[in-house]
Amino acid sequence: MSENIKKREEVKLVSVPSPYLVPERNAGKGLVLEANHLGIDFGGLTAVDDFNLGISPNEITGLIGPNGAGKTTVFNLLTKVYQQSRGTIFLDGKDTMGMSATQVNKAGIARTFQNIRLFDKLTVEDNVKIGLHNSINYGMWQGVFRLPIYWKEEKKAHDRVLELLSIFDMADMADMPAGSLPYGAQRRLEIVRALATEPKVLLLDEPAAGMNPSETAELMENIGKIRDEFGIAILLIEHDMNLVMGICEGIVVLNFGKIIAKGTPSEIQNNPVVVEAYLGKSHDEETADQGDDTEAGKTVDTDKGGSSRNADAGKKADAGKGKNRKKGGRR
Ligand SMILES: Nc1ncnc2c1ncn2[C@@H]1O[C@H](COP(=O)(O)OP(=O)(O)OP(=O)(O)O)[C@@H](O)[C@H]1O
Ligand SMILES: [Mg+2]
Repeated sequence: MSENIKKREEVKLVSVPSPYLVPERNAGKGLVLEANHLGIDFGGLTAVDDFNLGISPNEITGLIGPNGAGKTTVFNLLTKVYQQSRGTIFLDGKDTMGMSATQVNKAGIARTFQNIRLFDKLTVEDNVKIGLHNSINYGMWQGVFRLPIYWKEEKKAHDRVLELLSIFDMADMADMPAGSLPYGAQRRLEIVRALATEPKVLLLDEPAAGMNPSETAELMENIGKIRDEFGIAILLIEHDMNLVMGICEGIVVLNFGKIIAKGTPSEIQNNPVVVEAYLGKSHDEETADQGDDTEAGKTVDTDKGGSSRNADAGKKADAGKGKNRKKGGRR
């Protein structure tokens, strides 16, 4: 640089309002999670492509689409189970490129899994304590020698576990082995464990899978309660349309790895592209069509969670009657 050119003082770079739509109450508040042009290929298969999503704090967003559409893969990208082939992910304004799953969890994103992943033999309390690793403050030697700080932190952890379990009225189950809990309670325990990591964004992969209608209704209420009490954003994958339409503020629809629609529940329900690809036809249309559409009348494949326990598959109603339902497999 020539000596007579005076260097300007550097400016601070700030983000500008993004193009993403957020609930009106959050206008101007910024995004807690932002994925831009996100994509991943597995060999020749593009599982997710050009996925764009912005979520503001304390927003409940739904991610829906047929089996094999790429929904869980999006979660795996957001939580760094996979590193993306393309695009960027910002968590609370921080680029997560190159972060590990543990680092990104510490940075504020937690999830539950489509297939329950608990330590069956450990107690309910110990399962939740695993989630508290981000906030426990004693070192290995302090633990080995049972120093006072260890007992202090353990007491704190115990109290916190009971407090978290009480969200789902599960505090009295603290000493039970996780594997002995009824299925619905195990799903709730996974949510509690994820909450224990103190996320800013909670990802729920089919939390209602295998639940009966009354458990699902209760879950719906509790998801709202969690959002209100913890003030966190929730991204929800679910095939139960009552749950999705009843609780989500914004919905994103994925098909063959690409977003085909975004909008409010009523916009999504009335979007012909979504109806064709996923939601299926209305009952009246189906009755009229019977005879030429062998798929009509079948309930959605909701064998989520590897579960034949999905007692309310029929309730999942029209979701998934779209023509792509047979594509993509279980993983
Ligand atoms: N690790 C992987 N290796 C190869 N292909 C994969 C891998 N993970 C996912 N896929 C493929 O990516 C596509 C999307 O799968 P994904 O599990 O994300 O679908 P989904 O929308 O969650 O479906 P479902 O509703 O059945 O859970 C599928 O075709 C799947 O086979
Ligand atoms: Mg999935």
